[in-house]
Amino acid sequence: MEYINNELHIGPNKKNLKSLTANYMRPIYVYDLDFIRMRFKAMAAALQNVRIFYAMKANSNPEVLACLKECGAGADVVSLGEIKRALESGFTPADIVYSGVGKTRHEITEALKLEIYQINVESLPELERIGEIAKAMGKKASIALRLNPDIDIKTHPYIATGLRDNKFGMELSLIPELIACLKKYASSLELVGVSLHLGSQMLEFDGYQEALERLKNVYHSLKQEFSTLRRFDFGGGLGIIYERSELDKEQSLLQEYAKITLNSLKELNCELQSEPGRWLLAHAGVLITQVQYVKKTSEKTFVIVDSGMNHLVRPSLYEAYHTILPLDKKSHEGVYDIVGPICESSDFFAKDRKLPEVKEGDFLAIADAGAYGYSMASTYNQQELPLEICI
Ligand code: LLP
Repeated sequence: MEYINNELHIGPNKKNLKSLTANYMRPIYVYDLDFIRMRFKAMAAALQNVRIFYAMKANSNPEVLACLKECGAGADVVSLGEIKRALESGFTPADIVYSGVGKTRHEITEALKLEIYQINVESLPELERIGEIAKAMGKKASIALRLNPDIDIKTHPYIATGLRDNKFGMELSLIPELIACLKKYASSLELVGVSLHLGSQMLEFDGYQEALERLKNVYHSLKQEFSTLRRFDFGGGLGIIYERSELDKEQSLLQEYAKITLNSLKELNCELQSEPGRWLLAHAGVLITQVQYVKKTSEKTFVIVDSGMNHLVRPSLYEAYHTILPLDKKSHEGVYDIVGPICESSDFFAKDRKLPEVKEGDFLAIADAGAYGYSMASTYNQQELPLEICI
């Protein structure tokens, strides 16, 4: 985002955000599709022949999904709801990788009916359940084992998934039992892949590299038992820079991530898959909200806006930092707590934030909200959901 003539613009084609507020009714998520295309191209170029399955939990807006499908992405899903949304938006079952720890019998049955490309299995009872259902249906399920290498990637604890005390994936010590189960259901389960996802907003890669090494060994030993094994899915998780002043580091992070991944996995000589979400979407979206009141107390100046934790929960849930900029830039500055209308003290977007002066009726843009924004929104306090606009 940048100011041109003191008005805020977004994306590679510098679109003016102010024009979207002419008939403003309630907060708006704006997604720039050119920006998404640009990010996809950049990631696809860095990862070379890796097949990208977009993690649609980051943003499942139908136009966003259709745009990514057109770019050549597949979809990483975690529920039957996401499968349905992906299919409605133009993906086919052959484009879909199905992850998640809690797949119900109904969800598994539907996924098997559709002949989903790959099911990432997260526990032994789940593998057993899929085997049982596939057998009864006379289907063969394409299975990838999501393994948990017990690695710390140094992210917020709520979004780390690759440690032994996380509910995700399966411990490496479980391999003999997994092999036995795969053999028991040999005519209904086909082992096609090994998968991993260590967590989200990963900005340094030592742990990730170690995890790849551990799983490479597992891949080799499984390959000896199962000649059908041919895919390695290294998950998502590449972080983005939320602090605008450090944005220029992002390109080198992508290059480093790609280099580590490709160098480490090339000896497997297999199909490589990735599941990025945040990296493709975050910068391409903003949340536009309107100032209702500027409320001064002896301690603070609160800017009370018409959006809150109900629309973008990241600051409340992870104490996440988001850049906030007024659509019209003014010359004076103030220091504000930017808060929403929700009846919780955790309902804030920023605390003690220096901003150009803000007045009632002004519009603010909350940046980098394209990922895990609307997709995590709720109607708490019976507030309406925000609008979504793709430009
Ligand atoms: N694959 C799996 C199995 C996942 O669970 C996730 C994210 C991804 C891929 C995509 O990860 P990404 O590339 O977006 O980091 N709500 C949190 C993030 C939760 C991530 C959940 N899983 C946030 O707002 O930071």
